[in-house]
Amino acid sequence: MKTNMWIVDNSENNVNSYPQLEEAASLLKKGEVVAFPTETVYGLGADATNDKAVKKIFEAKGRPSDNPLIVHIGNANQLDGLVEEVPLKAKRLTEAYWPGPLTLILKSKTGISQGVTAGLSTVGVRMPSHPVALALLQKVDLPIAAPSANLSGRPSPTTAQHVYEDLQGRIVGIVDGGQTGVGLESTVLDCTCEPPLILRPGGITKRQLEEVIGEVEVDQALLKEEEKPKSPGMKYTHYAPNAPLFIVSGTREFMRETIMKAQEGGKKVGVLSTEENYSFYPGDKVIVCGHREDQASIAASLYDSLRAFNQEDLDIIYSESFEREGLGEAIMNRLVKAAGHKIISEE
Ligand code: TXA
Ligand code: MG
Repeated sequence: MKTNMWIVDNSENNVNSYPQLEEAASLLKKGEVVAFPTETVYGLGADATNDKAVKKIFEAKGRPSDNPLIVHIGNANQLDGLVEEVPLKAKRLTEAYWPGPLTLILKSKTGISQGVTAGLSTVGVRMPSHPVALALLQKVDLPIAAPSANLSGRPSPTTAQHVYEDLQGRIVGIVDGGQTGVGLESTVLDCTCEPPLILRPGGITKRQLEEVIGEVEVDQALLKEEEKPKSPGMKYTHYAPNAPLFIVSGTREFMRETIMKAQEGGKKVGVLSTEENYSFYPGDKVIVCGHREDQASIAASLYDSLRAFNQEDLDIIYSESFEREGLGEAIMNRLVKAAGHKIISEE
């Protein structure tokens, strides 16, 4: 299968006028699988009401079938057609943060493909804010199931090039809208329980949620390795580069010693560093991932950095550690998964 690349320059205000989106929309309507940019990461879309189309997503990604998909809508009114009820707190959150990087888990109505819900009685729904995603969803005018557009287990794609690397020949096309903004996937919030429960930290922080609806809990399994996460997708290994990755928690002097010790032992060392510390580390390949003082910049380039290590022949990778505060919650959640919970602490 030839994978088309449709370039859409979203610096233009009027993305709606792009003929490339017409082609992508008509293929989606016909039951094909198309990748498109969102403000978080690229998604791999298919008609959520079409079983066969949804099945193609799982095949293209090599995704386990017990992992449900998020349904994307281009208009908040479409929510009523997908779920049994919208509790008041969920409604308030849609008003505050949609369109945006927040997925709400609600009781699903029948009619959504079983493949989307993986047989659960709930469904995750979100309305993305990326202008290209919104324009495409509005043109298709169908709920679109879309997981991140990576091969299962790889870091989520933040550029069309990442999608192409993973899925060329496996899907009909990719809408290229440049680099995504947030760089990490949406926050997933279960609104079927009280208080609502964060199943996956993401672009909307716990504090932002609590500002609107009061107390919110965090799935404890996200913090402890032993517990079984409530969100099926959170139990899988993810994002890991080819060489073993360790998070190094401590001062940058400790990081430097750790790197040098490995090099003395003959290892080729990769380092994930922030801009501030770049020149301080003697690694064989030091990749810069944002500024320490600017969490958004770290989130935006994390997946690209993790992918970049695979272009080098390394024996081990050390990453700086970050505060689990605000967006840092999501950054550390992904980094710890990528490292398979391997953390080296100074104390
Ligand atoms: O930012 C995002 O959310 C991106 C973009 C493309 O929108 N999508 C994304 O989808 O990250 P995916 O499939 O890679 O991750 C969806 C996560 C998985 O962890 C899945 O288990 C969880 O959401 N999920 C989906 N439906 C669920 C449900 N009904 N109950 C619990 N968890 C659910
Ligand atoms: Mg994913």
